[in-house]
Amino acid sequence: MPPKVPNVRLNNGVQMPILGLGTYARKWETGDFRKAVECGIDVGYHHIDTASMYKNEEEVGEGIINKIKEGIVTRNDLFVTTKLWNNRHAEKDIVLTLKESLAKLKLDYVDLYLVHWPVSINDEGEDQAIDYIETWRGMEQALQLGLTKSIGVSNFNEEQLERLLATAKVKPVVNQIEINPSLTQQKLVDYCKSVDVQPVAYTPLGLLSDARPEFAHLDKINTDPRFGALAEKYGKTKAQIALRYLVQRGIVVIPKSFTKSRMEENLKIFDFELSAAEMALVDSFNLNHRCVPATAFAKHKYYPF
Ligand SMILES: NC(=O)c1ccc[n+]([C@@H]2O[C@H](COP(=O)([O-])OP(=O)(O)OC[C@H]3O[C@@H](n4cnc5c(N)ncnc54)[C@H](OP(=O)(O)O)[C@@H]3O)[C@@H](O)[C@H]2O)c1
Repeated sequence: MPPKVPNVRLNNGVQMPILGLGTYARKWETGDFRKAVECGIDVGYHHIDTASMYKNEEEVGEGIINKIKEGIVTRNDLFVTTKLWNNRHAEKDIVLTLKESLAKLKLDYVDLYLVHWPVSINDEGEDQAIDYIETWRGMEQALQLGLTKSIGVSNFNEEQLERLLATAKVKPVVNQIEINPSLTQQKLVDYCKSVDVQPVAYTPLGLLSDARPEFAHLDKINTDPRFGALAEKYGKTKAQIALRYLVQRGIVVIPKSFTKSRMEENLKIFDFELSAAEMALVDSFNLNHRCVPATAFAKHKYYPF
């Protein structure tokens, strides 16, 4: 039996699994995303995170539909997130853009639609400086049409979220941001919780992941014997300790893996608990190091970092 993944209750009453499968890959071959989603569902993931920018919605949708046809899951069992890319931020474009994503995903609705970044660009990548307050009106229309069950944001800083909350008719349910042991984001996480916006951690493995070997030497958790000892104490890997640390802070995590054994490993984090002192130890490894600084947008009006 796959491990049971607990849900968190979003501010609109919707239940969201606290652990999901990330699907972003810089390099891939045809079929990789479909196979990853199929394997993920087989091993127990019911929450899948994609985005139009990942160029994988067709394959993610194929994987989902195959598993529904096989009777492994129903649509109702799944929580599917996709995201609006930065070149479609005009209010008039949003419903249309979500309909395009749904057609690729072969779904009637997604569970969560996110504004991927507060930054807007044209197809050439130039700053359009469209106010995300305008973008949010289009998101609210998509919700009203039933194209998505919930709407939220990603990569919003505290000031941007506060400004959005001041005018939004519908409150965002989540803010998906980078959080991991090298970027603990305590202040932004506390703010999100104080306004009942669920923090979701992308890149939750941070520098632990072998996707970022160029930075691994920076990471104290890769070298500090106290972190290794913690993993040993619980008979877990360092990746499992990092994910457990995040969910114990009440943060949703969406680790990406295309490897079955790692997908299974990342699910096995609900059978142990870190003590307060151990949580503080992981906190102490914070470096405020961003794996995803998105420097291409650094000069844009609504760049969040
Ligand atoms: N909203 C945003 O702007 C944004 C930005 C970035 C990411 N995201 C979302 O968040 C998801 C996760 O972030 P991410 O993909 O950047 O980083 P991540 O999940 O922290 O790390 C993924 C990398 O770690 C490896 N890995 C997975 N499990 C492992 C384990 N147990 N031990 C060691 N290595 C392991 C994976 O390799 P294998 O696949 O080879 O196992 C992959 O190279 C993305 O896929 C995407 O859905 C959102």
